Amino acid sequence: MKHLLKLGDLTGEDIIELLNLADQLKYEKKNGIEHKYLSGKSLGMIFEKASTRTRVSFEVGMYDLGGHPLFLSSNDLQIGRGEPVEDTARVLSRFLDGIMIRTFDQEEVEALAKYGSIPVINGLTDYAHPCQVLADLLTIREHKIKLQGLKLCFIGDGNNMANSLIVGCIKCGMKVAVACPDSNKPDAEIMKWAAENGEFICTSDIMAAAEDADVVYTDVWASMGQESEAEERKKIFAGYQINEDVMSSAKKDAMVLHCLPAHRGEEITADIFEKHADEIFDEAENRLHAQKAVLVKLMRD
Ligand code: CP
Ligand code: NVA
Repeated sequence: MKHLLKLGDLTGEDIIELLNLADQLKYEKKNGIEHKYLSGKSLGMIFEKASTRTRVSFEVGMYDLGGHPLFLSSNDLQIGRGEPVEDTARVLSRFLDGIMIRTFDQEEVEALAKYGSIPVINGLTDYAHPCQVLADLLTIREHKIKLQGLKLCFIGDGNNMANSLIVGCIKCGMKVAVACPDSNKPDAEIMKWAAENGEFICTSDIMAAAEDADVVYTDVWASMGQESEAEERKKIFAGYQINEDVMSSAKKDAMVLHCLPAHRGEEITADIFEKHADEIFDEAENRLHAQKAVLVKLMRD
């Protein structure tokens, strides 16, 4: 594993190895065991979109590991003024030991990896959010002890989260059901791959998708970059909310996860959010532990 560009590049074994390493790092952190495995290493963190969790967890993660994080906003970088990503990649490779990037086009992340000579980590694109899904799988495994055979139901927009959850869950032997309007399905190639490699359905029937689910997951209806479509999207996704009705179709002990930030009253009711807040904030915390595993795996000598 040289980069983390998308989960499709990893095997199920790679994912489980990262989760096991995350468990170890979490144990060490909780027990005050120093783990400065990246002493002397620098990580550049390029942000072309906003972030709370990704920025803070990568920054604290590098600190915990003894390394140095650099926050690089595209507003301040020459990349924001049109310097080609191919040149940025080669320059940053001369200074840094790794790059995390949050941007729009998956192609930009792939180009950074192609032209640079250091590990590149995708911190979210319009296509994928692999770091989030590693934290999600870690959280599900902590709460349910296993992954194999569990059913995850994703409700809402067939967006970056849906794409990465489908791939990550199927690779770990989970079943996936997506409930979304016909107009907003996940990536067609990912759905084809999922149907050929595991148990996968995509339906507009939210109750059918949630039936006997062990994990019910949702994300915002308007992702970053789609703010101007927010009102229109509220109409499109009106029936696609996690609420009491939907939860009555899932297993009694089903978990609810949300990558955050959440919009109560839109993709999830305030009641369901609060009822499952412990799971959702465990999930947020696990961004730190899962990403530290990625950093160690990619950047340790
Ligand atoms: N879930 C997530 O990636 O959060 P941020 O946008 O705050 O980084
Ligand atoms: N789909 C959301 C995820 C945020 C973590 C977005 O791209 O804005």
